[in-house]
Amino acid sequence: MAVVGALGMVGTEMIRTLERRNFPVHELRPLDLPENEGKDVEFRGQRAKIRTASERNFKGIDIALFSAGATASLDLAPKAVGQGAVVVDNSSAWRMDPSCPLVVPEVNADDLEQHRGIIANPNCSTIQMVVVLKPIHDQAKIERVVVATYQATTGAGQKGSLALERESMQFCKVGRAVDPEGFQYQIAFNVIPHIDVFQEGGYTREEYKMVNETKKIMGDESIRVTATCVRVPVFYGHSEAVNIETKSKMSPEAARRVLEESPGVVVLDDPENLKYPMPIMSDQQDATFVGRIREDFSIKNGLNLWIVSNNIRKGAALNAVQIAEELIRRNLLNK
Ligand SMILES: NC(=O)c1ccc[n+]([C@@H]2O[C@H](COP(=O)([O-])OP(=O)(O)OC[C@H]3O[C@@H](n4cnc5c(N)ncnc54)[C@H](OP(=O)(O)O)[C@@H]3O)[C@@H](O)[C@H]2O)c1
Repeated sequence: MAVVGALGMVGTEMIRTLERRNFPVHELRPLDLPENEGKDVEFRGQRAKIRTASERNFKGIDIALFSAGATASLDLAPKAVGQGAVVVDNSSAWRMDPSCPLVVPEVNADDLEQHRGIIANPNCSTIQMVVVLKPIHDQAKIERVVVATYQATTGAGQKGSLALERESMQFCKVGRAVDPEGFQYQIAFNVIPHIDVFQEGGYTREEYKMVNETKKIMGDESIRVTATCVRVPVFYGHSEAVNIETKSKMSPEAARRVLEESPGVVVLDDPENLKYPMPIMSDQQDATFVGRIREDFSIKNGLNLWIVSNNIRKGAALNAVQIAEELIRRNLLNK
């Protein structure tokens, strides 16, 4: 088993997740940039030395979990496949490639059957949204989704986490705005309505990811999706305000019932007792939390939901490891 980008935020969590879920790893091979050779990571109480992520280091690997960014994935994933590995890629590089399944196991695990070596792990904000939307879609057919995200700084990797930490300390110390590090503007005590680059029509690439990936994962091109993605000064846990319009009417009670039965979802929806999901609750958690489920009275068949999940776990490392588990369960590794 190889983990590419093993020293990164997601790579580190992938290794912890393999350990925590007792994944059947015979040998863990952590790969990263050449300058990191000689460093090591801990796995099951042993130290495993970092090697350079290069073609020859994929020899003998069955599964390679990639989390080193799109440039590395575009270059190295086909090479890993050439050496006999199945790649689960966490970057955006292969997500919309028609030959690569884009998988959230609770939603579309069957798509894995069509894989040709590279399987893409969706964008973190999309994963947590579709885990909740799919069970509702199956019952009431979702026609339109309007989502606003509140995304944690760790979604931008280690540099995002450090930016919030340093800027917050500096702001409190000097009592005024600080030079931004890591984001376009100061993120401490601020929100930035801009994630990834701007594209056509004034939308960002992050917003288009939510639009296009949702349709691909749900296997339904007819769902209309529009998104506004916002970075907030939170270390861990993405939150989303999601409004949906369905073909047939579904009451909030019915939605709660179906979600309570859905794998990977925890319903936390008791406003009278001040119970609703918040990002601080997602610390060290695998589940996707949903609450504030209520009717949208402004349309005929509408619901509002508030969805929270840990962006490093279900949004990245956990989903990738679940895909790897499913590959083994279905006997879908390259022979
Ligand atoms: N963070 C999240 O919530 C999240 C969620 C979903 C998806 N993702 C995706 O996951 C990927 C990694 O994100 P991250 O947050 O873990 O970033 P990160 O903390 O910056 O980690 C990336 C790691 O990959 C290494 N690396 C860079 N180029 C490499 C190469 N060519 N070969 C091997 N290793 C290389 C980096 O080394 P240096 O640090 O020395 O450069 C670093 O150790 C990105 O594609 C990101 O979009 C992240």
